[in-house]
Amino acid sequence: SIVPVIICGGAGSRLWPLSRENHPKPLIRLADGHSLIQHALLRALALPVAGELITVTNRELFFAIEDEYRQLGVEFGHGRFLLEPEGRNTAAAIAAACLEAADALGGETVLCVLPADHVIADVPALTEAVGRAEKLAREGRVVTFGIKSDRPETGYGYIEADGTDVLRFVEKPDAETAKQYLESGRFSWNSGMFCFQAQTMIGLMETLCPDILSGCRESLDAAVRIDGKNVERIELDAALFAKVPSNSIDYAVLEKAPNASVVPCDIGWNDIGSWAALGAQYAGDENGNRTLGPVMAISSSGNVIHGSDRLIGVVGVENLIIADTPDALLVTTKERAQDVKLLYNRLKEEG
Ligand code: GDD
Ligand code: MG
Repeated sequence: SIVPVIICGGAGSRLWPLSRENHPKPLIRLADGHSLIQHALLRALALPVAGELITVTNRELFFAIEDEYRQLGVEFGHGRFLLEPEGRNTAAAIAAACLEAADALGGETVLCVLPADHVIADVPALTEAVGRAEKLAREGRVVTFGIKSDRPETGYGYIEADGTDVLRFVEKPDAETAKQYLESGRFSWNSGMFCFQAQTMIGLMETLCPDILSGCRESLDAAVRIDGKNVERIELDAALFAKVPSNSIDYAVLEKAPNASVVPCDIGWNDIGSWAALGAQYAGDENGNRTLGPVMAISSSGNVIHGSDRLIGVVGVENLIIADTPDALLVTTKERAQDVKLLYNRLKEEG
């Protein structure tokens, strides 16, 4: 069996105004009424689990996430929340999870890291892929999940493989390189999920990013633990965690790991990174508009419209993104969807 590790952090700046600092991307609700973090929990529980769940997130989000879990009304066994005083990126989040798991459950524990910002349409196929990954993880491999690439996306990691052995892992290549990788047909995308034994990852980090590992060790040793009924809150020490170098697991470990494997999978994977991707999850009409909430569209096509309480009407517009919330309205085009982060950053600068 495996222990799921749900990681939830980062701003989700391209999904403003729906995601904010205090309302991050994983709390966004899809058309089915479930939030992304709830979907992550449902995926986790579909895996061969044995009553343990680890969630790594910001301490400000503890109550919101616990609430999301409880609202599902599913049994998740013993839940550990590793709470970060501030985000230090995924290498630190994963290091903390590995150390906690090794201490409490044993170094051989197989962890499966599940990002909270994905949609996976085919959960049975995911469960099957994790089964394959678990076998490789028990042989001491760090297992990635390879998604068939269909565009020269620069926001993902790329994996070149020989069978299940990873030959090369390249995180976020530039546009020219991404284009070459796509055309070569030899690369798949890294899904952002990983499967490994806690001790395997700790061993790799000892050589590849010892400062991150030791900083997490210290902040975990000094953590404040608050025991609830079936939920344990582990608040990492703020002063010590602040000193942990910030890096992603992809750059810090995966690009340099000698023992990486890949399990190719076709699981209906989608990274909900931008309004175009989120909109693709909304109900569509015959003109290719994707809408949520009360919307009336006349002679309009290809728009993504996220409404809330009031009616949104559009006439004669194409390929727009309109996202309405009680206190902020976004209007942009699909073409510029990635640049919403510029707006987010400006708003942040100007307080
Ligand atoms: N707890 C915690 N703390 N979680 C974090 C933090 C942090 O500081 N930073 C990010 N996360 C969570 C995010 O919520 C997300 O679920 C996951 O970790 C990945 O972080 P992203 O910031 O979304 O990474 P990315 O999308 O740029 O890149 C990763 O995912 C791609 C696929 O979606 C990489 O693994 C790429 O290689 C991969 O292709
Ligand atoms: Mg992401």
